[in-house]
Amino acid sequence: MKVSIAIDGPAAAGKSTVAKIVAKKLHITYIDTGAMYRAYTYYCLEHGIDCQDEAACCAVIDEVNIELLPGDKVLCNGEDVSEAIRTPYVSSQVSYIASYKDIRLALVEKQREMAGRKSVIMDGRDIGTYVLPNADVKIYQIASVETRAIRRYDENISKGIDCTLEEVLEDVRKRDYIDSHRDFAPLKAAPDSVLLDTSYLTVDQVVDAIIEIVEEKMGKEVLTLNG
Ligand code: CDP
Repeated sequence: MKVSIAIDGPAAAGKSTVAKIVAKKLHITYIDTGAMYRAYTYYCLEHGIDCQDEAACCAVIDEVNIELLPGDKVLCNGEDVSEAIRTPYVSSQVSYIASYKDIRLALVEKQREMAGRKSVIMDGRDIGTYVLPNADVKIYQIASVETRAIRRYDENISKGIDCTLEEVLEDVRKRDYIDSHRDFAPLKAAPDSVLLDTSYLTVDQVVDAIIEIVEEKMGKEVLTLNG
């Protein structure tokens, strides 16, 4: 049985954390679309391109080859950028890159190609509305902005990334604003998505809630997918 699950929502809502666990439980492929926008941003920064200069950023589309490998590995032109794309500086610039239509079109094409005929769980901002409009299950995962900032701050600290809670809060607010106000494929809930407020839920509770939603829609057999 083939299943496609779309998880969208604002910054640092914990989408990738739970999507990875759900993917393992259902034996399906996890696709982190945010990592692709981050890798593109990293490439521009490394090449001295101003991320607010749309023409300059779009001019290098054919030079940027991004690959997502198993084990959360992200390659940009063969270079392992898995850690480099998580820095606060990349975070502060990525929403500009993600607002450029030509870049989105190129990355979305890759995302759809990766999903192909496989069972996938894909997270991002426009998965249910644009990338996989026919996804079997669509979740819109939210949490209060303060909760999200604390989660990302804790995550950064545990990874040794230097930052303050105030900086993270500002970054999350700024990205949410740009992501939801861009013209092309902005952040918004698909009308047929299930809203999941995770403010007071643990990771395990969110995972269980998602599996329950998937089972309700697809039947219990979903747990034996590719298993
Ligand atoms: O993990 P976090 O919520 O911080 O963000 P992410 O999923 O890594 O995405 C980083 C940025 O990429 C977002 O703030 C968006 O600007 C952009 N993005 C997007 O526009 N569309 C997607 N499908 C995924 C990410």
